[in-house]
Amino acid sequence: MKNEELYRESWSLFPTGVSVVAVLDNKKNVHGMTANSISSISLNPNIIMVSIGVERSIKNHFSKSNSISISVLASDQTEIANHFAISNSTNFLKNTKYFQFSNEYFFIQKCLSFYFGEIIEKHNIGDHEVYFIQVKYFDLFKKKEPLVWYRGKLSKPIC
Ligand SMILES: Cc1cc2nc3c(=O)[nH]c(=O)nc-3n(C[C@H](O)[C@H](O)[C@H](O)COP(=O)(O)O)c2cc1C
Repeated sequence: MKNEELYRESWSLFPTGVSVVAVLDNKKNVHGMTANSISSISLNPNIIMVSIGVERSIKNHFSKSNSISISVLASDQTEIANHFAISNSTNFLKNTKYFQFSNEYFFIQKCLSFYFGEIIEKHNIGDHEVYFIQVKYFDLFKKKEPLVWYRGKLSKPIC
């Protein structure tokens, strides 16, 4: 096994939640990407980190937008996680049907929690672009369980 594969495998042992990071382009088409490399960085103010691979198609829209949506998926949303993990940048109709829009923000319908905000800083780190997003709105729906990414598979929580 190559070192790179072993390195990837080592991180597959670290279970995470699963989110969909999304942005509107200047034609109001919604672009989404399944992401587990997100983290709460600061509580005061509320700042989230999102890491996007340099080859991802969402990257071009992301850096131009001031309105970023991050939805944490629930355990019954595997289909959505799979949809936004494949190249779907032109399938806007299907993308849109997963989202709920209000005047001020948008998020994946029936997700576990969501955050909406603007980019305050960006850094190029290795093969990823790391964005820091200041939260303007968020909400949570406590009665659902999270979708989990572990050993390269989507699953329900073990406990
Ligand atoms: C569970 C899971 C988590 C992922 N997390 C990230 C991530 O944090 N950052 C990232 O750049 N890609 C991540 N990906 C890969 C992207 O979702 C995927 O490469 C992208 O949506 C492909 O679309 P594109 O070809 O239009 O860029 C993840 C994929 C899965 C299945």
